[in-house]
Amino acid sequence: MEFIIIHLPMVDSTLNEARRYAFKGAKEGTVVRADTQTSGRGRSGRTWHSDDANNLYFSLILEPQYDYNKSHMVTLIVAMAVNNAIRKITGLDTLIKWPNDIVYNGKKICGILTELYFGDRWRPFQIPGVGINVSRKEFPEEIKNTATSLFVETGVEYNMEEILDCILKEFDPLYKKFLENITLDFLKEDYEKVLANKEKGVRVLDPKEPFEGIAKGIDSVGALQVLTENGEIKSVSSGEVSVRGIYGYV
Ligand code: BTN
Repeated sequence: MEFIIIHLPMVDSTLNEARRYAFKGAKEGTVVRADTQTSGRGRSGRTWHSDDANNLYFSLILEPQYDYNKSHMVTLIVAMAVNNAIRKITGLDTLIKWPNDIVYNGKKICGILTELYFGDRWRPFQIPGVGINVSRKEFPEEIKNTATSLFVETGVEYNMEEILDCILKEFDPLYKKFLENITLDFLKEDYEKVLANKEKGVRVLDPKEPFEGIAKGIDSVGALQVLTENGEIKSVSSGEVSVRGIYGYV
């Protein structure tokens, strides 16, 4: 895929800006990056604090040519690409909290929110938005205990362009592999090696029926496999529910 990076000083949200570009005809592979966002958003309607220009905020335009109902799997691929890139550049043994947070020492370094839009004649666009705490030194009160940054963990100020380039380089071959069969079978083993929840107690925050169990891994569509107390394996689809550690965030 050919990547074209559009770098802007300030936008409402790179997800919105990327959508506007997509609707105006921008091609798959267009990346919208901003130094700050005035209305950065996270999963479950939360705010993604984006006033600090020492962090990386970007969104990538994809045009799924396959059944877009399967597009949620791409979020796990983006998480894998970000995690690989962070590990390569910083040497930190970061992990993925299912489905797509990047964590270190139980604290969050990166969040990913993927949105699906329909353009002309229902042409679907899928836009993963990535926020990485790169050189953030202070955190708002409500996330102080659960968030960290690459700088806080290493004392190094990393080059954000280099991080973005490395993520895109990691993403490209993984996405190509995914497009061959539209399954995550090829990713399962590597993903589970860096899965922070693996063999840990998790609480599945299903609004209908919350439950607890031990996370065993993922299946071929990226659903978390949770072993419950009565020996049953429950499959938890990404996008529908969140999971928390029983003793903390991870
Ligand atoms: C999460 O809740 O963990 C997901 C956070 C996603 C934040 C990124 S920053 C770039 C893009 N633009 C947004 O408004 N959100 C995403």
